Amino acid sequence: MGKTIAVAGKGGVGKTLISALLINHLSRQQDGAVLAIDADPSTNLHLALGINIDFNQLETVGGIREETATDVQSGSNLGGMSKPAYFEMRIQQAIWEENDFDLLAMGRPEGPGCYCAANNMLRASIDRLSGAYQYVVIDNEAGLEHLSRRTTRDVDVLLIVSDASMRSVLAAAGVSRLIDELHTKVGEQYLIVNRVPLDESGQPRLPEPLREAIEAQGLKLAGLIPVDPVVAEFDAVGKPVGDIPSDSVTRQAFDRIVASIPSLN
Ligand SMILES: Nc1ncnc2c1ncn2[C@@H]1O[C@H](COP(=O)(O)OP(=O)(O)OP(=O)(O)O)[C@@H](O)[C@H]1O
Ligand SMILES: [Mg+2]
Repeated sequence: MGKTIAVAGKGGVGKTLISALLINHLSRQQDGAVLAIDADPSTNLHLALGINIDFNQLETVGGIREETATDVQSGSNLGGMSKPAYFEMRIQQAIWEENDFDLLAMGRPEGPGCYCAANNMLRASIDRLSGAYQYVVIDNEAGLEHLSRRTTRDVDVLLIVSDASMRSVLAAAGVSRLIDELHTKVGEQYLIVNRVPLDESGQPRLPEPLREAIEAQGLKLAGLIPVDPVVAEFDAVGKPVGDIPSDSVTRQAFDRIVASIPSLN
């Protein structure tokens, strides 16, 4: 069985950056196939991963669900296939294959008029297809709503991302509490604080009250990623995260974080 790693946290804290760094790391360092799942309806992980396709060309699970509903309404027999078999075929076709990893974009979540049965079938297909990979990395949308909707599969490692602000750390603690309350199966949880300001000696350092809050909330800190002009510059011109040099402060900090998490090695 492969490992599922989910990345969650408040809006704009660096979830997509960290997902892309992890996907690059796993596909370069480890044997075995990697599936990236973009679970953010705004569908942008492919850009961070340097996949050069037009937004409209990328098929999404949400798009497949809507198309199928329309087809069925207009009397299509789905090529004589059962609905589960049809979904599985379409999702298989929607998986975008790169050399180092594959990508599946979830697209828009189910609308109010959507049938639960269809979503359960989709989830079952995604789970079955994911079984072919050694690692599945899920870049989640911001906030908690999708977690309550239980659209996140059981995960082995949950990386909760925060920036160096009290509000963001408390939001991270909220994610952690919700996971516990929902009894979503999560093997291990870690906090990564991103965009941390540097001290006089050029090292990322958290203000003491923030460090205390992390401890008081019972969050397990895996490490800090500094504010990095290289990351901002790459993002500004649309260069992929995979091209961030290995000697950059971000990649070095990230490599240390990954090395400290046994299940990622
Ligand atoms: N360590 C860093 N140093 C400088 N800029 C950063 C750093 N991490 C992230 N950023 C910038 O912050 C912005 C948000 O990052 P990112 O898109 O990864 O966050 P997100 O949590 O996925 O956001 P969303 O909630 O919108 O999905 C981007 O413009 C990114 O370039
Ligand atoms: Mg994102």
